[in-house]
Order: sequence, then C-alpha cells, then structure tokens
Amino acid sequence: MSSARVEHFERLRGEVRVPGDKSTSHRALMISALADGESTIRGLSRGTDVAATAQIMEQLGAARSVRDDVVSMVGPSEGLRVSDAALDCGNSGTTMRLLSGVVSAVPGEHHLIGDASLSKRPMDRIAEPLTLMGARVEGQGPRLSAPLRVTGTNALRGVAYDVPMASAQVKSAILFAALAASSPTTVGERVRTRPTTEEMLSRAGVSVVSIESGDGRSVTIHPGRPLARNWLVPGDPSQAAFFAVLGCIHPDAELEVLDIDSARERIGFLSVLQRMGATLSVHANDATTSFAARTSQLSATEVHASEIPSVDEVPVLVVAAAAAEGVTSFRDVGELRLKESDRFEGSLALAIKLGCRAWSDGDDLFVEGLGSAALFSNFEIDAALDHRMVMASAIAGCAGDGCSIGAAETVESSYPNFFDDLEQLA
Ligand code: S3P
Repeated sequence: MSSARVEHFERLRGEVRVPGDKSTSHRALMISALADGESTIRGLSRGTDVAATAQIMEQLGAARSVRDDVVSMVGPSEGLRVSDAALDCGNSGTTMRLLSGVVSAVPGEHHLIGDASLSKRPMDRIAEPLTLMGARVEGQGPRLSAPLRVTGTNALRGVAYDVPMASAQVKSAILFAALAASSPTTVGERVRTRPTTEEMLSRAGVSVVSIESGDGRSVTIHPGRPLARNWLVPGDPSQAAFFAVLGCIHPDAELEVLDIDSARERIGFLSVLQRMGATLSVHANDATTSFAARTSQLSATEVHASEIPSVDEVPVLVVAAAAAEGVTSFRDVGELRLKESDRFEGSLALAIKLGCRAWSDGDDLFVEGLGSAALFSNFEIDAALDHRMVMASAIAGCAGDGCSIGAAETVESSYPNFFDDLEQLA
C-alpha cells in the first residue's frame, strides 16, 4: 500500500470540478440495467465503487460501452438474470445494499462479496425489509455481514416499512425491490435522507409519491419497469465538502466548486460552515449548486446528524471544528461507526492528532478547536480502506502543517484524482 505526503501550501486559488455524484452514478447504472433498451450516462463517477456496480450490472445481463465521457448501458428486454459468478461489491456499501434490493426480484441465488471493510458492515438493515417482501437474505454473524446469499423471487410483495435508522441505502434497497412487487410499497423515514432513488425512478417513468411531514418523509412506489433515458450526473456534494472546509480554514485561500447536486439533504455542510462564520457564497440554479469559499475565522457550533443525514461530511467538519474557536458538538452521529471504517473513533483520533482536545459521550462527539489551522500539528495517520478519512486528513495537512497518510490509494474508491485536484490549487 502506498503512503502520501501532504505538505502545507502557502496559497490556494482556483476552481474545482469534483467527480460525478457517486449516489447518482450507482443508481443511473442500476436503473439503466433494469430498463428495456439503451440509456446513456454522462459524468459518471470514475471511482472503483461505481466501477463495481457497472461490472455487476454486466454480470446480470446488461451490456455496457464507453465513449469519451458517455457510458451507454443496454438493459436486456427479458430482464436481469442470475450470474454464476459472485457479485463483487469491493469497498462499496451502496453497491451491496442497493444491489440486494435489485436481485431480490431476480429469481435464483446471488452471491454478494466485498473487501475486508465491507465484510464488517451490517446488512441486517436491508435483510429485514427484503425478507418481509419475500426474498431470502443470508449473511455472516448476528449483523448478517457479507458474504451474502440473496435468494430472489418473482413473487415479491409490497410492504409498508418504516426504516429505523436514517439510511438512504436501506430506503433505496426497498424501492428497487418494490419495482417488481405485486402491490405498492410505502417506505417511511423519520429523518429525510437523500431523495436520489425516488427522484431518479420518477424521472424514469415509475409512479412515485413522496410526502414530507415534520423531519420525515414517506415514499410510495407503484411497481413498474423504469424507462431507458439519458442521465446527466451532477458533481458530488460529499466530495465538494472537502474543498469547502479547505477554503475556509486555510490561511490564504479562495476556492470555487462548481455544479454539485443541489439536494437539501446533501448540502447541509454549507449551512453548518456558514453558521460557523465561513465566508461562503452559494449560487444555486435549477439543477446544481456552486459555491466559493475563502479564508475565514470559524467559531464553534452544534451540528445535529439530521442536518447531514448520511454523516459522510462529519470527518471533514471535524477538521473545520478543530480550526474553530470553542467547542463544537456533533450530536447523534453514532452511524459514523458503521461506515467504511469506524469514523466516530477515526474522527476523534484525527482531532487529537491535530492537537485538539476531543471526546465523546454516547453518540455525541465534541471537539475543542485551536482557533486556527495554523496551529495544527504535523501528523501521521493510516486511514486504511476509508476514502473519506484519507481526504479529511489530507485537508487538515494541507491547511495545517502537513501530514503523512498510509494507504492513501483508498481514495480510488470515490475520487481517483483527489490528490491531483488538491495540488493544482497550490
Ligand atoms: C449513500 C447513502 C449513505 C452514504 C453513502 C452513500 C447512498 O449511506 O453514507 O456514502 O448513495 O445511498 P447510509 O444510507 O448508510 O446513510
């Protein structure tokens, strides 16, 4: 495994176009493979997570070709079929969870495998609703981790299911299975998560009704086959968050990030930074959001998980908190423990390495900031198999006093050009 050295850059200027949104990319491939005929996808994420989904869709019978920035995918008119070989989801939880929903409706036995990180993650959260719908999901240990055996059927039932945790992946697994059920399905969520699946299915002609109430939402989907169409993937907000924080905490920075997905559930990190006093200007048009971030004096705030429902942006917001004045609290962020690595402990450890006092109480995490990234210590970290911990560490090193990151190639899973994009700002 290779390690990366990140140095402090004196001055950062420039524009970043982050990769295509990973969530949209996985779904565009799956919906295209489920449709009858040719779809095209422009701007697909080039990370290995999305490549795993593309490879699996081919194994299940879809045909793929690539020309320049356009991926074409042809869904078989007779529908997807079982693959003799295992379906290798690599490091990608989104692939494994959404795919479980897709193959629940494909009769036969499907074997889903993943790397060491993915094989530790809980799959009981998708097994429960998919079993209620009539599929069989078998995994390892009490949390049903991978390798998984999913037995699909053409006799799935519609269900009404309230997802017990805030998880777009669980919601989406159910919605994908529901496409082939014998009656409508309603998925309830207490906290609204990214609406990517329901919105994309609706754009592909599936009947979806989404109703918001309080902080939650219910999504009712009628069975139906998605139509082939042309997809355009916006930039990935979770990747943009790294540059938003860098622009704010670096002592001499002016950065712009262009054309990211505008979904409210994805850009909560911008409001958090604004509340901390960031000089951020945000421009939204119908489809996408762009922003400019400049060197700012940040102060502490309280962040609740519901503001950033997948908690993907917490590790880099911890870096922002480390540069702020005062104690920032991150409330109810226990889901961090179940990501590609234990990001709860990883974020605490990172803040401590930077020189902060940081502690936890149950699912809450606290960071006492140093008041400036100029006071960050030089540090070493090994963020094996967790791309977001690598990138959060690199942002801290670049704004502060440098760092060395073990197994830095893990960024390949979502952002292969991350270090190049970082360097071109110097
Ligand atoms: C994702 C949902 C989130 C997020 C992941 C992508 C998705 O996971 O962490 O990076 O595309 O649906 P959870 O559903 O576990 O919150």
